[in-house]
Amino acid sequence: QKQVQAYRIGFSQCSTTGPWRQAMLDGMKRELSFHPDVELRVVNAHDNSQQQQQQIRELVRGGIDLLIVSPYEAGPVTPAVEEAHRRGVPVVLLDRRTASQQYTAYVGGDNLEVGQTAARYAARLLNHKGSIIEVLGTPGSSATTDRHQGFAQALGSHPGLRVVSQVTGDWTEKTLPALATALKAHPDVSLIFAHNDGMGRGAYEVCRQLGLAKKINIIGVDGLAGRNEGLDLVQRGVLTASVLYSPGGEDAIRTALAILNKQPYKRENTLGTIVIDSTNVRTMQQQTDKMVTQQEDIERQQSLLQRLQATYASQQTILYGLLAT
Ligand code: FRU
Repeated sequence: QKQVQAYRIGFSQCSTTGPWRQAMLDGMKRELSFHPDVELRVVNAHDNSQQQQQQIRELVRGGIDLLIVSPYEAGPVTPAVEEAHRRGVPVVLLDRRTASQQYTAYVGGDNLEVGQTAARYAARLLNHKGSIIEVLGTPGSSATTDRHQGFAQALGSHPGLRVVSQVTGDWTEKTLPALATALKAHPDVSLIFAHNDGMGRGAYEVCRQLGLAKKINIIGVDGLAGRNEGLDLVQRGVLTASVLYSPGGEDAIRTALAILNKQPYKRENTLGTIVIDSTNVRTMQQQTDKMVTQQEDIERQQSLLQRLQATYASQQTILYGLLAT
């Protein structure tokens, strides 16, 4: 039996798929498994805003009913997203924003809050005094701008805490040679705030090589499950803490479908955050393990249902055949 296509959703992903982006996509697919009549077209710009603009224009030209986009850099991706919106294609911004108000809904964490949360945690940990290095994500990504701003804002009320150096890490752990230089120039540093756990992992490696791993606390962002990801890194003491930042794939699809089906939806959909450290990491891990088991149950039920439907369809064919003779 052929499904009637209800909607075509285009998804423009900014970055090459690492575990966090994969979790986002998995979340979308999980939610879409309840809507087999919706097609998702995914394109990936591999950290290139020009390519992302081109891909968005191609998606729109090819005919989509809604665009989900996670923009690499806010400014450079804005024109293509505005064009889509002006042509009447609803736009859901996911995780990162453009530099424009022309969008239908936003789904994702509040990155100002992420930065503030990291700063408040750092203040308590360091007893309100000490030197900090900040490792930033790609300049121009809205997540970088907001995490930085939130962090600076909240540190403002702690005059004893000082960011002595900033290093740009481009969201990956491979881009941190400048960190070693900064650490050598500032031997009094006692904390590193890395804008994501991957760069936190890289920062740890640099500290370890300089013999500083025991002395320096590292705070990351994401708190993903899986080997070498945030929860694991906190559990192993590589990171002192990780600020949870959910990929939000399910939520993006739910918002997209509400928009398409003309149901009520919110324009700003903020996903909550918490600090994960040694006090709650076990609980978080148990919860994510439970979610994985539940998801496997759902998938088993879905495939059973499909098999039953297939059996039913073939029995009907036989029945109609008999009736016809
Ligand atoms: C993945 C990622 C995450 C980060 C988010 C910010 O590409 O770098 O680690 O939290 O993007 O937009």
